[in-house]
Formats: sequence, structure tokens, C-alpha cells
Amino acid sequence: MSTANIKTDLIGRKASAYAPASTGNVSVGFDLLGAALIRVDQKPLGDTVHVEFAEQDQLINSGEFAHVCPPDKNQNLAWIAYSLFKNKLTNPEQFPAVKMELVKSLPVGSGLGSSACSVVASLTALNRLFDFPYTDQELLVLMGEVEAGASGDLHYDNVAPSYFGGLQLMSPHQDTPVINLPNPDSWYWVVAFPGFSLPTKEAREVLPKQVDKSVAIDNAQYLAAFVAYLYQGEQTLAAKTIKDVIAEPYRADLIAGFKTSKQYLLAQDALAVGISGAGPTLFALTTDLTKAQQYKEYLEQNYILADKGFVHICQCATLGAKDIQVG
Ligand code: HSE
Repeated sequence: MSTANIKTDLIGRKASAYAPASTGNVSVGFDLLGAALIRVDQKPLGDTVHVEFAEQDQLINSGEFAHVCPPDKNQNLAWIAYSLFKNKLTNPEQFPAVKMELVKSLPVGSGLGSSACSVVASLTALNRLFDFPYTDQELLVLMGEVEAGASGDLHYDNVAPSYFGGLQLMSPHQDTPVINLPNPDSWYWVVAFPGFSLPTKEAREVLPKQVDKSVAIDNAQYLAAFVAYLYQGEQTLAAKTIKDVIAEPYRADLIAGFKTSKQYLLAQDALAVGISGAGPTLFALTTDLTKAQQYKEYLEQNYILADKGFVHICQCATLGAKDIQVG
């Protein structure tokens, strides 16, 4: 069969993917740790992408935050991901054009891995559509590459949990790039997005290029103890070990109301309170659902500053885009 016939036969084939929101850093593992999130009410908190082989390339933005997606498709992360995906194929000429719909449900610059969601959902849907030309690891590298273009630095702490689910620690070994840590399933994560954006690039620029030896030691101690407690099944102790000595001291002042809310929530027995990713979303941890609801009410009244703000009670999602089937 000719390439033209193969292409025609593929037209109309469809695939979709949903990528969950994630919280990068989890305060204790700057650029190294990230958790996928699922709302306890099971409503979606993430982006969906639908792709289809078609006669002509096309990108449609839909969803609550479609208006913040660049109208020029070459500036849009979903399309940038597609271009990279196709360029790296060994046989791109054998495939028809692609029609893509990005259902943008997460606010950008929120600290909830919004750009990672668009990238992960796009590449997962495309890998399904093209019949899995890339392994998980190859796909993760592509995801990192596109995300780095958006945030200014290569870090996998959003794309990895969004793709694999769970609580992912980045490994120094290239052949096993992520370590799936025990899921702290007793924790409720109250995540509060105040309604204004803080671009990751901006939030990275305020960080010092170097840290003192004492800070490096503290950081190693908190992260190592956190991981050890998780493996010991000591989830409450692990949560109490969450401390950010790298980014929060510099970022807290960029986020109106963060310090006051943190102080209040810790006084109400929150196990940990931190900045989700680069912010401005705040997260608070508790193992008590009643307390989680109280934190939610407090944050709705005191942390939300704009219409598009929200507070959700989440848990660490077991599944990521790789294993979530859409429709
Ligand atoms: N680790 C990144 C940062 C996460 O804190 O800059 C960005 O979502």
C-alpha cells in the first residue's frame, strides 16, 4: 500500500488523554519532588487533549481557561509538544495532519502544574494516536523539553507526577529517571489558588544562584528524613518534616496573604503548609477531613483575591495520564 493510502486510512482515528494537576516541590524537594492531585469529590482538576488524524493541521482551545492560551498555535504548548513529537519520529511522512483540541481547565501560572498538564495530556494523547512510537521514558524526556521551554529550566517535578501519577522523586540515574514513592494516602491536600498568576520564570528569578552550606545540609536532612518516614509508613511524621529552605523564603513575599494564612493554618494543627510549585497556590496538609473542610472555608474567605480563585480538597492521585482512560 502506498504512503498516501496509509495516510488516508488513518484519517478519522482519534485519541484523548487527561493529565491531572500536580504540586511541584512539595516544599521539601525543590525541583526534585512532585505529587499528582485528585479532588476528593472526584471532579476533574487537570487538562484534557483530544487528537485526531485529519486532512489539515488545526488547534482548537476550549475549556474555562481557553482565553489565556496563545491564539498563535506555534506559541501554544500543546502544539509545540506536537511539533517536537512529530519531528523526532523516524517516519513522520507516513502520518496525516493532526487536529488537536486542548481543553484548558487549569489556570496558567497557578503553581498546579498547568503547563505540564497541557504538555503531558498532549503527548500522551499523541502517543496513543500514533500507536505508541515512544517509550514512557522517551515521552518523559520530550515532556521535560517542552516544559523547560515554558518555565526557563529543565525540571520534571510536574510532568513526571502528571504522567505517572503518585508522588514522584527524580532520580539521578537516566535509565530510571523517577522513583515512585509510597503514596501518602492518609493526607488531604487543601490547595488554594488565589486567582492571580505568578509565572514560574518570575518566581525562579528571585531565587539565589547559590546557597550556604548550612542550607544545603538542612535541605538534604529534611528531604532524606521525609523519604525515610514515608518508607517506614510514618505519614504524619513525613508531613511534619516538610520544610522549604530553598524557595519559600524568597517567594513568600511575592504571594499576597501567604505568610498570614500559613501562620493561621499551622496554629490550627495543619501538618504542613507550603507553596505549591512556584506559587501562588498554597497547600495545607492534614489527615483529618473535617479540618480540611475548615481550612478550605478559611482559605476561601481569606486567600482568594480574584474571581477565578478556588480551593479544593485533594489527595495524591494514584493514576496519571499514562493510565487514565478518557471517555
Ligand atoms: N520546581 C519548580 C519551581 C516548579 O519551583 O520553580 C514549577 O512548577
